[in-house]
Amino acid sequence: MTLQIPISPVVDIHTHMYPPEYISILSSRDTIPLVRTFPSSPDPRLILLESEIPSLELALTDPTAPLPGRPLTKSFTSLPAKLAFMSRHNITTSVLSLANPWLDFLPPDEAGATAHEINTSFESMCASEPGRLYFFGTLPLTAPLETILASITHLTTLPHCRGIILGTSGLGSGLDDPSLLPIFSALATSTLPIFLHPHYGLPNAVYGPRSAAGEYGHVLPLALGFPMETTIAVARMFLAGVFDAVPELRMILAHSGGTLPFLAGRIESCVLHDAALVGKMGGKEGKRRRTVWEVLREQVYLDAVIYSEVGLKAAVEAGGGADRLMFGTDHPFFPPVGVEGGGEDGVWESVGLNVQAVDKALGEGSEEARMVMGGNAVRVLRLFE
Ligand code: URA
Ligand code: ZN
Repeated sequence: MTLQIPISPVVDIHTHMYPPEYISILSSRDTIPLVRTFPSSPDPRLILLESEIPSLELALTDPTAPLPGRPLTKSFTSLPAKLAFMSRHNITTSVLSLANPWLDFLPPDEAGATAHEINTSFESMCASEPGRLYFFGTLPLTAPLETILASITHLTTLPHCRGIILGTSGLGSGLDDPSLLPIFSALATSTLPIFLHPHYGLPNAVYGPRSAAGEYGHVLPLALGFPMETTIAVARMFLAGVFDAVPELRMILAHSGGTLPFLAGRIESCVLHDAALVGKMGGKEGKRRRTVWEVLREQVYLDAVIYSEVGLKAAVEAGGGADRLMFGTDHPFFPPVGVEGGGEDGVWESVGLNVQAVDKALGEGSEEARMVMGGNAVRVLRLFE
C-alpha cells in the first residue's frame, strides 16, 4: 500500500516493545532475563541485565531490600500505550523493535518458532496502524544457520518489516565471527539494515562494589557499559573486515554509535600504527584499506539517542553530515521518575532532551533538523512506500 508521506514527519526509530508472547516466556524463567512479582511492588519487575543480579539476589532474601530491575508497566507491553505516547510527543511514525535481550537466551530448538511468532505479532500490530508503525524483526540466533536464514526469508514477506534488531553477541562469539557472514549477506541482499543495540555491557567488576550494592542505580551500566559495548562490537567488525566482505550491509547504531564518533580517530590511529595490521587489512583483491571514517560514512547510520547537543554534533560530524542520523526515544525505558503514579502517562523528559539536542545542534526548524527528526528515516527505511 502506498501511503501519503506526511509533511515533516517525526519518526522514532528507537522504540521497543515486549509482546505478550515474550512476557510469558520471561515470566516462566528463574534466571535473567525474567519477570518476577514482589509483595512490595504493585507492578511485576522486569530484570534484564547482569548488573541487576546482585539486587535481585538481595531482594529474594530480604523483603525490605530495594526492588531489582524496573517496573513492568503497560508502556512495555501495550500497543494503546505506545500509540498514546506517540501522540503525546508528536511522533508521526514509530519503527518498533523487541527490546533486549531479544531471543539470545532461547534453547536452539525453540528459537525459530518463537522468532516466527514474535515477528508475526509485530507485523500484525503494525498492520493495524497503517503509516504509524513499522518494525525491526528479531532473529533466532541460537538456532541452526538454516533456521536463521529461513527467519530472514520470513521477514522479507512481512510488509512492515524494515530491518532487524541485533545484539552484540551474534552467534555467541561476537559480530566479528566469520560464521555470521552468510547472515550478514542475506540481510544485505534483502535490504534489511541491522539496528545494532547493546545489552551485555561490561563485566560487573568494572562498576565496583558500590554499584553492585545499588548505590549508583543503573547509571554506570546504562550510561557507560552500553555505549562501550556497541563501540567494541563495531570496532571488532571493522578490524575483521566485515564491512568490506559485505559492502551492501547497512547498520544503524543505537545511542549514536556508543562512543564511536568520539573515538573513531583513536581507532584509526591505532590501526595505522600497529605493525601487526599494516598491510593486512584491506578490501577484496588487495583494494586500499577503508578508514573507520569511510565505513561510518558509507555503511553506517546512527540514531540520535544521545541526550545532548555536544554528543549530537559529534554524531553528525562522524557521519559526514546530518543525513545519516535518525531520531529515537528509547521508549519505554527512561520514563519520568519521582512523579506520582510513575509519570508514564505524562510528557517524558528523556524525549525532550533528544528533541532539544537536535534543535540546538542543527537549528530549530532547519532542514537538517527535519531530516534527523524524520526525513532520513523515511528515505533510509523506505517508509510510506
Ligand atoms: N535499558 C535496557 O535494558 N534497554 C534499553 O534499550 C534501554 C535501557
Ligand atoms: Zn533501546
